[in-house]
Amino acid sequence: MNKIVDKEFFSENVVRLEIEAPRIAKARRAGHFVIVKVGKNGERIPLTIASANPEKGTITLVVQRVGVSSRRLAELNIGDEITDLVGPLGQATHIENFGTVLACGGGVGVAPLLPIVEAMKKAGNKVITVIAARTKDLIILEDQIKQYSDELIVMTDDGTYGEKGLVTDAMEKVLQREKVDLSVVIGPAIMMKFASLTTEKYEVPTYASLNTIMVDGTGMCGACRITVGGKTKFVCVDGPEFDAHKVDFDEMLLRLNGYKEIEKEAEQNYLH
Ligand code: FES
Repeated sequence: MNKIVDKEFFSENVVRLEIEAPRIAKARRAGHFVIVKVGKNGERIPLTIASANPEKGTITLVVQRVGVSSRRLAELNIGDEITDLVGPLGQATHIENFGTVLACGGGVGVAPLLPIVEAMKKAGNKVITVIAARTKDLIILEDQIKQYSDELIVMTDDGTYGEKGLVTDAMEKVLQREKVDLSVVIGPAIMMKFASLTTEKYEVPTYASLNTIMVDGTGMCGACRITVGGKTKFVCVDGPEFDAHKVDFDEMLLRLNGYKEIEKEAEQNYLH
């Protein structure tokens, strides 16, 4: 059992949880994730480790309430324990001094972007970061991201904060202005699809960190399978990061949307 030692709401639906997990805190590297289960029969949800404190023995997860399982997790309070927490899972991000890195995060995707921005900066890169959300209240971790960014651009769809527009608008501006050596994009699948098309135009190598449905997290169930460069890959063991220009985002979107109705129904039952 892993105890929650701190909790903070970034907005009504986005919460930061600091959880006791000493061995994971020591072993994790940027890009790793954990699978969390709340309750004996709870669903298993993958969450990227946003940060870790090896001295304190804790990891930080950022959870967005989007369905029953994430609601259950977000409702836990300081002192509560998480039924199951497994990790660190997946392949760590490939970090080196590439030169100029354009890091882009949409919505709650900014949380998994944070450790990558930090590691890229520490490796000597010039880091230009774009964070984006629908509206001001959904912008998260701005100060933490700023700390490791040479330049930070904030975008909101409705213009209530930062610049008005999409993540791709800011990306275009940067890519037209200067040479970028690598881009990293994390966010909703649809955002990653268009971010990837944008960098492809400028021939900038791009990683996307994928957030598929997962069950076992060990490459056995196939729930997380995607197609990359015409080959089947498992996000949990081969990823979560892949060459964005080779990912079949349309297939991924189709598979993600396949459970939408069941998820909606489960949430309605949970709330009433
Ligand atoms: Fe089962 Fe990846 S979650 S194979």
